[in-house]
Amino acid sequence: MSAFLSVANVSRSFGPNLTTGEKIAARLGASVETRHVQAVSGVSLTVRKGETLGLVGESGCGKSTLGRLIAGILPPSEGTVQIDGAPVMQGGRKVTTRVQTVFQDPFASLDPRMKVGMTVAEGPIAHGLTTKAQAKAYVAEWFGRVGLDPAWVDRYPHQFSGGQRQRIAIARALAMQPDVLICDEPVASLDVSIQAQIINLFLQLQRDLDLTCVFISHDLSVVRHVSERVAVMYLGRIVELGPVGQVFERPAHPYTAALFGSVPKLVLDADELVHFEPIEGEVPSPLSPPPGCHYHPRCPLASEVCALDIPPLRDVREGRVAACHHAEAQLQRY
Ligand SMILES: Nc1ncnc2c1ncn2[C@@H]1O[C@H](COP(=O)(O)OP(=O)(O)O)[C@@H](O)[C@H]1O
Ligand code: SF4
Ligand SMILES: [Mg+2]
Repeated sequence: MSAFLSVANVSRSFGPNLTTGEKIAARLGASVETRHVQAVSGVSLTVRKGETLGLVGESGCGKSTLGRLIAGILPPSEGTVQIDGAPVMQGGRKVTTRVQTVFQDPFASLDPRMKVGMTVAEGPIAHGLTTKAQAKAYVAEWFGRVGLDPAWVDRYPHQFSGGQRQRIAIARALAMQPDVLICDEPVASLDVSIQAQIINLFLQLQRDLDLTCVFISHDLSVVRHVSERVAVMYLGRIVELGPVGQVFERPAHPYTAALFGSVPKLVLDADELVHFEPIEGEVPSPLSPPPGCHYHPRCPLASEVCALDIPPLRDVREGRVAACHHAEAQLQRY
């Protein structure tokens, strides 16, 4: 498989964010949490040109951090991200416009005091993709492509609905003419009826523009709908990665099976997106992940070796990888 987007052994930890009071308390010997969170741990993956890779996992498993690392918003503690052989970051700074991001909350990511047309035009003007004189026509064209009336460029964010604001955020990202788009929960804050519209818009633009995408969502049905392959994260690591159909229907990792298998509620909305409910039970704190396989305290297949050795990602059947000592036994369950 030819890699267009390449993520090589990327890790990111965060230091403790102590308040002044906690720092003083720590100096006086009080017990204050001072450990580091390993948000992303040794992640390697590749995405083909024009492919969408889904990224799933429970809240706090490191999806957004990995997305920000790939997008060059956050420097990695270790590892590199490349697009078509060129690094996204150098010396802790983003050095490319070829990757852009769409976030969950379009209201938070749009400046309320700036006309939306200007919000979309800013980046392209700064990077010479259009001129000040031509910016209005340039933005109007992108408005049209995302299904917004080009006459609305002089309005402010509060004059738009949630779905329209997300279209503006998509226009802003695409007006930078990226090759790679990172979508972090792009429909999670929208009404279910609007979600399908935005997903269909995304699918159409992705095909028309041959975009390479990483699509982050806790909603498995959305990921299944938009992705060709899916990566499953647990406590900062990728535990399984492969074609969506196989990973969804016959998981090789017990965590994937639990995540996809726990379906207490099926909601069929008007546009026939099936919504799964997330897995039950607590995720261990990333401040003190369990030794060995991080999933062993919750895993029905755990054996002695699981509590001792971290399983590496390895090839299992059907073109996918899984990080489990007993992947074959898991596959036998089907
Ligand atoms: N800026 C930050 N400072 C400290 N901890 C962070 C920061 N960003 C994320 N984390 C921690 O990293 C872990 C992964 O978070 P995140 O990537 O947001 O997960 P997800 O998107 O899967 O919910 C969490 O434990 C979170 O608290
Ligand atoms: S390595 Fe062991 S504990 Fe981890 S998922 Fe596989 S069987 Fe379960
Ligand atoms: Mg997140």
